[in-house]
Amino acid sequence: MSAVEVIRTKRDGARLSDEQIRWFVDAYTRGEVAHEQAAALCMAIFLRGMEPAELATWTDAMLRSGERLDLSDLRRPSVDKHSTGGVGDKVSLVLVPLVAACGAAVPQLSGRGLGHTGGTLDKLEAIPGWRAVLSNDEIRRVLRDEGGVICAAGEGLAPADRKLYALRDITATVESIPLIASSIMSKKIAEGTGALVLDVKVGRGAFMADLADARSLAETMVGLGEAHGVRTRALLTGMDTPMGRTAGNALEVAEAVEVLQGGGPPDLVELTVALAREMLDLVGIEADPAAALADGTAHQRWRAIISAQGGDPDAPLPLAAERHTVVAPRSGVLQRLDALDVGVAAWRLGAGRARKEDPVSATAGVTWRATVGEPVVAGAPLLELHGDDPARFEGALAALEGAFDIGAAPVGAAPLVLGRVVPEHGAGRR
Ligand code: URA
Repeated sequence: MSAVEVIRTKRDGARLSDEQIRWFVDAYTRGEVAHEQAAALCMAIFLRGMEPAELATWTDAMLRSGERLDLSDLRRPSVDKHSTGGVGDKVSLVLVPLVAACGAAVPQLSGRGLGHTGGTLDKLEAIPGWRAVLSNDEIRRVLRDEGGVICAAGEGLAPADRKLYALRDITATVESIPLIASSIMSKKIAEGTGALVLDVKVGRGAFMADLADARSLAETMVGLGEAHGVRTRALLTGMDTPMGRTAGNALEVAEAVEVLQGGGPPDLVELTVALAREMLDLVGIEADPAAALADGTAHQRWRAIISAQGGDPDAPLPLAAERHTVVAPRSGVLQRLDALDVGVAAWRLGAGRARKEDPVSATAGVTWRATVGEPVVAGAPLLELHGDDPARFEGALAALEGAFDIGAAPVGAAPLVLGRVVPEHGAGRR
């Protein structure tokens, strides 16, 4: 088999054979195919696409490049959620203890944030003592004892994706539906969950700005999950406006705890409960997630899960040394708050990283006092920047220029759930 021949096949628009795909993914993972050759193949896939059968084999080869966690000894049905990433999206922090409190086991193996969207592990690392890296035995123990675990996906899960994702990141080949779908689903199938709900974000702050593309990504991922025996559904959800009122690691943990204590911003509560309902329905558990938020059982689960991973749920979260307030220039109704601009501002303050190995700040971020549809008053605080390094404020303020519109006309909040994708054969339909 020759790497050049595989690249030429895809470059010229032909279908890769199963043999070609399995050989290439395995040889690249083992270091026998050069990065330049893998980069060329990713670009050819980006430009030419993949047929469903080709993509199924490609995903399976990525999955088989490493181990698959065995969660078959759990006494509860397992179900996880994956979000394609948004600004202020701290849903996982609430959802894992919430769905665990309702009786399922939630194995949330996550990554770190890259670019303007935050990463769940970076957020939780703001909690003193909390450990993201667990052994496979620890993952199984926390999951069995507490019903949920949120931790780093180990090196052994889908190592082909680890190499391919780093390569795509530096070769402008991230935004390809087959490459995104295979990357996400190889990792999620490898973590061993029996069921999966995908939150595919659409809008300015998301990978997919367009609803049709997001639906196509969701359908592709649902098909891949089902083909590997993982019951999978997806919600398409809006990401033009950032979620909740905070973007930044410790700031988002504090907001998630508010929701777990029965409060918090309505959009965050609504989306978390909608995703929890899908997850519980998929595994046949009849429980009311809204009740588990209101009666404190989800909060108790949070405390147990955080403690089991070395974190102190009672420790104060770190606060930024410096703040800068942006006031509303006029009175009226907030018509627009741009998720991408807010995400870039939080990132420039230090909440996110540009390269995988960069450190992130626990305290940096942006908070906003009003969201779309709410009244604002001239001269009153609208946005607040948080950070330890005042030199970063200028860049963040530049990102926020033009980030919002204030007008006289009343506007309703944009709908959060824009669509739902279930398997074609109807399994998993209500
Ligand atoms: N997240 C992933 O894990 N992979 C992608 O390709 C894009 C987002």
